[in-house]
Amino acid sequence: MVTDTEATGIFSVIRERRSVRNYTGREVPDGALRAIIAAGVQAPNALGLQPWRFVVVKDRGLMRRASDYCKPILVEKIGEESRPGMEGFLAALRDPGYSIFYNAPVLVLVLGAREVVSSVLDCTLCAENMMLAAWALGIGSCWVGSAALVQQNPDLLAALKVPDDHQIVAPLIFGYPAPLPPKPGRREPRITWVP
Ligand SMILES: Cc1cc2nc3c(=O)[nH]c(=O)nc-3n(C[C@H](O)[C@H](O)[C@H](O)COP(=O)(O)O)c2cc1C
Repeated sequence: MVTDTEATGIFSVIRERRSVRNYTGREVPDGALRAIIAAGVQAPNALGLQPWRFVVVKDRGLMRRASDYCKPILVEKIGEESRPGMEGFLAALRDPGYSIFYNAPVLVLVLGAREVVSSVLDCTLCAENMMLAAWALGIGSCWVGSAALVQQNPDLLAALKVPDDHQIVAPLIFGYPAPLPPKPGRREPRITWVP
């Protein structure tokens, strides 16, 4: 059995990290964002191609525009799927004051080069590193997958400075956590041991 002390704290960061959907108004310093991105690019990546690049968005007006664009599309998609348990989220999406970015002070888009076939996998690993590094710095994060819908809107893509040869893989928000509800638990992993 490996203990936390043997594992120099990384296990507690992994265990305690959780998606943060409630932020204080405090800005995240650029130095912290650089450190988070520097941790991201340490991720393993197929053939060492490092197909990622990053857009750091602090423009709350632009985040609001992106959120307002995505919300009705999400309402339609969720309505079509009519998934049980989504009623609360649907109601929130219909609220003009609701932001899919939960009023976080910064959005970082992890972009993957379209020409690299492993881009989505590589950028996903990068994103997880970033979220763990942020947590270790006392900074919360959330992967807001629904924000990738902005890819349907050329004006927003241009405003967000996403180059044509890259796709948005991981839209990540960061900020200092306000009081949080309990972290969702995990099921016991199903493990098959093949001796
Ligand atoms: C690919 C992906 C997309 C996600 N999209 C959203 C999203 O659009 N909005 C949101 O609030 N959370 C989103 N999440 C966060 C998950 O809801 C969250 O990770 C999950 O409920 C487990 O909770 P935890 O991260 O606190 O452990 C996303 C997570 C992943 C990995």
